[in-house]
Amino acid sequence: MAALQKVTRQAWDIFRLFFKDRNANIDGLKALQETMSKIQASDLNIDASRAMIEQQRLPPNPAAFEAAAGGDPSQRAPVGYMHIFEDGVMTMGVFIIREGSRIPLHNHPGMHGLLKVLYGDISVRTFNTITEDWTKFPISKFEGFPENEPPKKHLLAPTRLGIDQHFTASSEAVLLTPREGNYHSLESVGGPAAFLDILSPPYDPVIGRDCQYFKELKSLQPSSSESDPHWLMCISQPHDFWCDEVHYPGPEISIPS
Ligand SMILES: [Fe+2]
Repeated sequence: MAALQKVTRQAWDIFRLFFKDRNANIDGLKALQETMSKIQASDLNIDASRAMIEQQRLPPNPAAFEAAAGGDPSQRAPVGYMHIFEDGVMTMGVFIIREGSRIPLHNHPGMHGLLKVLYGDISVRTFNTITEDWTKFPISKFEGFPENEPPKKHLLAPTRLGIDQHFTASSEAVLLTPREGNYHSLESVGGPAAFLDILSPPYDPVIGRDCQYFKELKSLQPSSSESDPHWLMCISQPHDFWCDEVHYPGPEISIPS
């Protein structure tokens, strides 16, 4: 079985079970991470040696470039998306991040995710959800907020730093769960980069499963212990980030029942 078809089938079989039991098959997730780690750009007919040229083909976005680039029509999407597969269980595609661009800090509420770098160098920074009673943590004062205008509490999320490292095509796939690494940002370093992305279940804004964007707040108080939370604040989608669809050149994927 072709490599991409194999990882799709394996992911689908595992994530389908999560609808019945959210704690099902943790070992299966690890096995899926291993299979995903073997995926290379060539499995998707993506020619990594053409990455510098291909990024120029990302489409301009008439609605966004006015705000993002002062009306510069040469401004192209910072991120492209190749749609590969989606059904009620999972969604799969490739994100292409232009040189010097990023996918800003965001989350996937209640979802699992796997991402595997296909080419380039991506700086991945993740944050984990705090599971203990976080009301015991005093909310500190933050840089950029006057004392009489603190950030609104309902916009704050206490987290702990997870991964903060670079990933390339030879790195293993990153596994994100509803608690581990669910908040993350991805930035291309030194050139364009691309990664294969699997999410389950897919976003569904109708039932509140929608992406939110965040910014890291800088505390003005020195951290008293390692367990002090990193506070994130929910923000609107940054105006310099948008994503446009790009043609997917790879093999068709199907899930025969
Ligand atoms: Fe993400």
